[in-house]
Amino acid sequence: MNRINNTAKSFNYEWEMSKHFDTQFDWDNIVSVFLNETGMPKEWFKGKHCLDVGCGMGRWMSALKQLDADVIGTDISEEAVKMSKKYGRVIKSDLFNLQLAEQFDFVICDGVLQCLEDSRKGFHELLKYCKPDGIVHISVYEWKNPLKLFLTNLLRKRVTKKTLDERWEFSGKLANLVVNRVMYAIVNFFILASKSQFTNFDNYSTPINHYFKEEEVIKWFEEEGLRWEIITPNGWKIYNNIFMRFLKGKNNGKIRFRGIK
Ligand SMILES: C[S@@+](CC[C@H](N)C(=O)[O-])C[C@H]1O[C@@H](n2cnc3c(N)ncnc32)[C@H](O)[C@@H]1O
Repeated sequence: MNRINNTAKSFNYEWEMSKHFDTQFDWDNIVSVFLNETGMPKEWFKGKHCLDVGCGMGRWMSALKQLDADVIGTDISEEAVKMSKKYGRVIKSDLFNLQLAEQFDFVICDGVLQCLEDSRKGFHELLKYCKPDGIVHISVYEWKNPLKLFLTNLLRKRVTKKTLDERWEFSGKLANLVVNRVMYAIVNFFILASKSQFTNFDNYSTPINHYFKEEEVIKWFEEEGLRWEIITPNGWKIYNNIFMRFLKGKNNGKIRFRGIK
């Protein structure tokens, strides 16, 4: 319970900060960004019943609304609920306590499963809300190499002991530290580092962040008897070179999957 509260507090702070700092979300083109990232055709969504689990600021709820789908969002963060409710009904709830009687044509859970204590169980939970033949879209952070994982987790352990303001400050310092290209390459070799304060906060302030290999997540889909595919949005880099995979992961740090129930 404490973990959930700490996760919610961290995201409350992050979403509050998003009002004043650049999240790097392209709100002006949110529909095309959504279609590109989910790999779905525009026409598919009209009149569809959709669920956005861990909806955050509601960027995908906004896209779904503009695509004439009807959408329900859920999140544990009070601030997320406040921000996203302009796009549809939003329920403040932990994924594991979500007691919705209905099922949906499209369930999206973007960047959420990795912050759960048991991501695999969370995936199973999601599927309860997906209609037979419905689509589930998930994204998770990608595993890169054991050294980076160890050092990143060690740093997170220290950072999460700080106050939220201190974590935000740390995230800014890390972003500033890495503005120089050479410095960025060096720092990013050892720990997860971004040039954005917002992304650093997302990585280091959340109490849990799991990183997955493609094959681990493929196993979830296969165990659940789903047809699946990995989505590679246009413009997204795939690394085949061993060194770049070590540094950034095969899928550049984030893996997107579509499953059909
Ligand atoms: C990285 S953000 C992603 C937000 C959104 N899906 C997006 O792509 O913009 C993760 C979100 O998941 C929410 N979250 C974390 N754990 C959750 C849980 N157990 N149940 C529901 N939401 C959760 C957080 O509060 C946060 O808003």
